[in-house]
Amino acid sequence: MICGGKFEIMDKLLIHGGKPLEGEVCVSGCKNSAVAVIPAALLADSPSVIENLPYIDDVLVLRDILKAMGAKVELSDNGSMYIDPSGLNAFTTPMEMARRMRASYYLLSVLLARFGKAEVAFPGGCDIGVRPIDQHIKGLEALGAKIIIEHGFIKAYTSGLKGAEIYLDVVSVGATINIMLAASMADGVTEIVNAAKEPHVVDTANFLNAMGANIKGAGTDVIKIRGVSSLKGCQHSIVPDQIEAGTFMIAAAATKGNVIIKNLIPVHLESVSAKLIEMGVEVSAGDDFIRVKSSARPKPTTIKTLPYPGFPTDLQQPMSALLSIADGTSIITENIWESRYKHIEEIKRMGAKIKIEDRVAIIDGVEKLSGAPVIATDLRAGAALVIAGLMAEGVTEISNVKYIDRGYENIDKKLMALGADIRRISV
Ligand code: EPU
Repeated sequence: MICGGKFEIMDKLLIHGGKPLEGEVCVSGCKNSAVAVIPAALLADSPSVIENLPYIDDVLVLRDILKAMGAKVELSDNGSMYIDPSGLNAFTTPMEMARRMRASYYLLSVLLARFGKAEVAFPGGCDIGVRPIDQHIKGLEALGAKIIIEHGFIKAYTSGLKGAEIYLDVVSVGATINIMLAASMADGVTEIVNAAKEPHVVDTANFLNAMGANIKGAGTDVIKIRGVSSLKGCQHSIVPDQIEAGTFMIAAAATKGNVIIKNLIPVHLESVSAKLIEMGVEVSAGDDFIRVKSSARPKPTTIKTLPYPGFPTDLQQPMSALLSIADGTSIITENIWESRYKHIEEIKRMGAKIKIEDRVAIIDGVEKLSGAPVIATDLRAGAALVIAGLMAEGVTEISNVKYIDRGYENIDKKLMALGADIRRISV
């Protein structure tokens, strides 16, 4: 088992492709919001209840980290987590646990704000290129922290955080959230300029505000935080996961299916809807659902990944799987992560014709893929392989399913309910 979770480390997915997905699927809570909101609950002086959490490995790891540090945490089957931070008694995160996920860096600012000191193991996460944290460090230093990196830990100390104006050199989700967390209880006003605008940044700001913080402008590129002296626990429901929703939209198009994806916020998926429509896919939206219908090979297109509201890097890999069967040549430019093409070698085993030149993928669409044994190298690579397997002729066997379980709740069960022939096997 991984970290006390429910998933076997050697699980494989076996997919008999070629079945159109049909029916309705419900989107879970957003992974990248959950991994920020759970640590944020430690800033309060009373318990919080966080609802609509996805049952994924990153959430289970965070639960275990918080418990190991003295907080009282209960995760119920309906995806709600009770967090009582009053017993928190450690400013160091357990190294092995923290290294299992990227977002353990949010504990840095939270522990710093609570204790004036924090020691967090250098974050792990998917291997999708160099993942610098210079903007996190720059932000925390501007707020008055001293940061040292030694023995695999980032160590931060302060005698009191003070508001500051911070210009981010790159638009960074992690740095924006980390600075918001640290600044919420700093003395004075903090302004983050060139902030990230992703829905999970807004969701984290909403949670902090519900606890009593004073944050304005989340969702724009300037966020203003007026520090408050204390925060109180509250109840909060995590926003729907727009990347999971986008993955199902792409899977529906890839299998020439007809799927209603429910419990989402359509505006979060405008870049994806726009691209699918360009590709000849039928996309229609209601208040909290999107319907995707397709009956033909997609038309080729051009995609450039960008910070929100641009096309998300996290859907580049699933989209490249779909484009591998487009009727012509597509071009993808990956502007966020420099090695987010590891899935391409695997899709090529299935018959795709793709050339990578630095950050550009040139995809010559083929009529169909054929199933093969493939390996998921990271979370979204795994999602791309699931999509490739669903549309391929024959059997695809995906190893390293642990990466997929990190970010998708019950992906096999949700796809099975839509008519996919997919089976999890534990080796
Ligand atoms: N960057 C820097 N310095 C920093 C931070 C980032 O140069 O201090 C650069 C990165 O190298 C990258 C760009 O800025 O080129 C954006 O990185 P960002 O900080 O926004 O990424 P992140 O916060 O580490 C989150 C998501 C990722 C998602 C990116 C981009 C979480 C836990 N992770 O990562 O999600 O790809 O934003 O949207 O929120 C995933 O879910 O599969 C995933 C990898």
